[in-house]
Amino acid sequence: MENIHKDVAIVTGSSSGIGRAIAIALARKGVKVALVARDAKKLEEVKKIIEKSGGESIVVAQDLMIENSVLSIIECVQKKLGAINILVNAAGRVAMGGIDKINMKLWKSVIHLNLTIPYEFIHYLLPEMKEHERGWIFNISSEIGSRAIQYSGVYGVSKAALNRLSEILDLDVSEFGIHIYSLCPGWVNTKLAIDPSLLGVDKNEILQPEQIAKIITDLYEINNYKLSTILKITPMDHNVSTENSTRKFFELNKHLV
Ligand SMILES: NC(=O)c1ccc[n+]([C@@H]2O[C@H](COP(=O)([O-])OP(=O)(O)OC[C@H]3O[C@@H](n4cnc5c(N)ncnc54)[C@H](OP(=O)(O)O)[C@@H]3O)[C@@H](O)[C@H]2O)c1
Repeated sequence: MENIHKDVAIVTGSSSGIGRAIAIALARKGVKVALVARDAKKLEEVKKIIEKSGGESIVVAQDLMIENSVLSIIECVQKKLGAINILVNAAGRVAMGGIDKINMKLWKSVIHLNLTIPYEFIHYLLPEMKEHERGWIFNISSEIGSRAIQYSGVYGVSKAALNRLSEILDLDVSEFGIHIYSLCPGWVNTKLAIDPSLLGVDKNEILQPEQIAKIITDLYEINNYKLSTILKITPMDHNVSTENSTRKFFELNKHLV
């Protein structure tokens, strides 16, 4: 599909799960997508899916934990696809458990990937978005970031801070026509989350990555109203709520608490 605005998106974490589904969905809307993650093979597979539906994408295989990776990704995308006006921060990792069980190395790496990297992308992309008065920033946060959940440790802190960053950013830049959203899903069927079968749950009862992607494309297409910056997305069934599932997970994994 042709996109008259020729919008260009960077989607981090697009080799799997939520980021992958978002990249495919945005490309179906005619957005040119830069696919960012470490696994080049998986990114090439996503590129092929996008090509099959007539979309355009490039693969930027990069480890975001490497210093200066963000600037080199941005430069590469600008050169190959043009000005970037959509950013999806979906790359992330999870680490939960008692605070005394999460060592400093783990703390630093989770904070770096889940919070500092989104901040860095936003920092470098904002001037261009402001200049063009056109932009969308979607931070993939978590329900765990929107309220305190026992043993959510460093993950909960990183996502709560990402939510606050999104709120402040919204105050700073909405007058420039830049839309900021922090999506806070509950339990989504991806490899990062608890395997539903471990808790005796059918995977179809929890959220699916494609459902999150549909919300993103709907938000992208809104043009005359705004939703709140922090958007919670929870499965209807209370049994698979984040609170219940994390409690059950830690009952089975007492060594982590
Ligand atoms: N699944 C859930 O229940 C759930 C709920 C709420 C929020 N979220 C959030 O959703 C986001 C996406 O997670 P997901 O559930 O879709 O899990 P996922 O399938 O494991 O996806 C994580 C993505 O992050 C990328 N990534 C990890 N480390 C990276 C690094 N150092 N450099 C570059 N890319 C890296 C991975 O790609 P490579 O391995 O190829 O690098 C992968 O594409 C995360 O921010 C997560 O916190 C998930």
